Amino acid sequence: MKRKGIILAGGSGTRLYPITMAVSKQLLPIYDKPMIYYPLSVLMLAGIREIAIITTPQDQAQFQRLLGDGSQYGLDLTWIVQDSPDGLAQAYLLAEEFLDGAPSAMILGDNIFFGHALPELLNAANSHTEGGTVFAYRVADPERYGVVDFDGDKVRHIVEKPKNPPSRYAVTGLYFLDGDAPKRARHIQPSERGELEITTLLETYLADGLLNVQSLGRGFAWFDTGTHASLLDAGNFVRTLTERQGMQAGSPDEIAWLQGWIDSSILAERAEIFKKTQYADYLRLLLEDKMMQPKNG
Ligand code: TTP
Repeated sequence: MKRKGIILAGGSGTRLYPITMAVSKQLLPIYDKPMIYYPLSVLMLAGIREIAIITTPQDQAQFQRLLGDGSQYGLDLTWIVQDSPDGLAQAYLLAEEFLDGAPSAMILGDNIFFGHALPELLNAANSHTEGGTVFAYRVADPERYGVVDFDGDKVRHIVEKPKNPPSRYAVTGLYFLDGDAPKRARHIQPSERGELEITTLLETYLADGLLNVQSLGRGFAWFDTGTHASLLDAGNFVRTLTERQGMQAGSPDEIAWLQGWIDSSILAERAEIFKKTQYADYLRLLLEDKMMQPKNG
């Protein structure tokens, strides 16, 4: 079965108050684009076209205004509501019907990945259909995350927000799991804070010897954008990178075209929608750039 995607874009965003009192965190700008463009782009780079977006009930309409049914990117989007933010692993229960037994790639709506050979890495994870693959990244503040406890090369445990982190490697918000994830999620217990923790779900895979933890090297950038400072840092990173290269990071329009999911006439139409922005200019330039060619194009 083909892998399906999930973007978890609910949550309450309390660390970004007062900004997120009236708008979803995942709709805030990362420099020139809404945050959700970036995780959406990651799933698209992995070749995934059937994607469910999970939002709060009150934010769903705004996300739909932005992304519609996904056909402008050659995607098939499904919209799912999470009534209350009861944890990341709950996504698998909410998406069980959508997944219908298929393996999945779930990404958190506030996570941004950038790095050389990311598509190859994603494709490798995509091709493992049994068990799961998660990505670990070295951070200065591991106590904020699920942290990998290594025994030599092997992973012993993943520990959620440890006071004394067993390593500096955080588990990032991108999880490739097999078709058993919803069934496993049904059997895990909520944590002390009352959430269905992704860490608990991953531990079940680990216990069965079915979890592959892949390190992202220092050449990658991974941001979660849950605080004011990290939100600004991510925006500045995108600005610096894209202005230097004259290339976009996290453009679903570009990726859809490069993947051969939309043709050049659709890309040109998309550029018109964005009027006189740099984003629109970029899409127009792509159509003339001999170095950038769609797959099968
Ligand atoms: P968090 O940053 O852990 O939580 P949050 O977004 O509610 O923010 P805060 O801690 O400031 O209150 O969530 C990580 C990502 O997962 C984020 O994109 C929101 C999403 N999320 C859900 O969609 N549902 C949930 O139940 C939870 C806990 C998070």
